Amino acid sequence: MSGVASSSLAAGPGAARGLLDAPGLGVVAVPRPSLDDLPYREFVRQLLQRQGFKLDFNGQPPDGAVAMVADQLLGPGTFARERAQLVGDIAALADHMQGVAGGPPPMVSIRTFFAPGDLVWHVDRLHDPEAFRLVWPIGRPAGMRVTLRDNIDARIHRAYMRREHPLLCRLDTRVARTGAEVETLWAHRPAQLAAMVSGEFPFVIDPALEWEIAPGAASIHRVETPGHPGTWHRSSWSNRRAPGLQIVITAASYE
Ligand SMILES: [Fe+2]
Repeated sequence: MSGVASSSLAAGPGAARGLLDAPGLGVVAVPRPSLDDLPYREFVRQLLQRQGFKLDFNGQPPDGAVAMVADQLLGPGTFARERAQLVGDIAALADHMQGVAGGPPPMVSIRTFFAPGDLVWHVDRLHDPEAFRLVWPIGRPAGMRVTLRDNIDARIHRAYMRREHPLLCRLDTRVARTGAEVETLWAHRPAQLAAMVSGEFPFVIDPALEWEIAPGAASIHRVETPGHPGTWHRSSWSNRRAPGLQIVITAASYE
């Protein structure tokens, strides 16, 4: 069994959706050019050197949202052509995702900050009938890891999170506010830190049943909804200092 399939944008949303509906599949990789091959690479590199940020578009069109970030971090009007090219790519991916889910225009967010909580296996949840998320992390060394819900022991995970969730939230906030290193902030929690480094957590049933998405690829996975299981995922430890520019597009179905 392979948990990862691949489908290009050109193949269309129907092809990606067909794969996502197949049982036993966790994620569809969507090949993208690597950072070095993107026409707006210099723009992205400059953004990556600034303070980490997260921006939810909240229905604002991509050009307004990208302009806001770029004006603030790099100066008004800088990289005008590159902004437009990035916005074009985001719009194409959002169209694709709307086609995959068959619902309203998707939610888009971009971010460069790293949340250590992403190092812990988790599933994203929404209340829609069905929902799908595309993640395109530009310029990070390692790809996202995925596994299927069947590989998670729900009882152990619940107990684990009862203890760890508030601590992880606090850790995320402290890293976002101070930029401090996870290793330093959790030096007093060596076992939890070791799990983040190795990706081995007590609630994973078979650690061999995980797949890595190619580092520069975008990927689409199912978000857990009341009627459908979602794909579990985690970030790789080697991304903690280079999380990349993450473009996240979430699309839900009408029914
Ligand atoms: Fe997630």
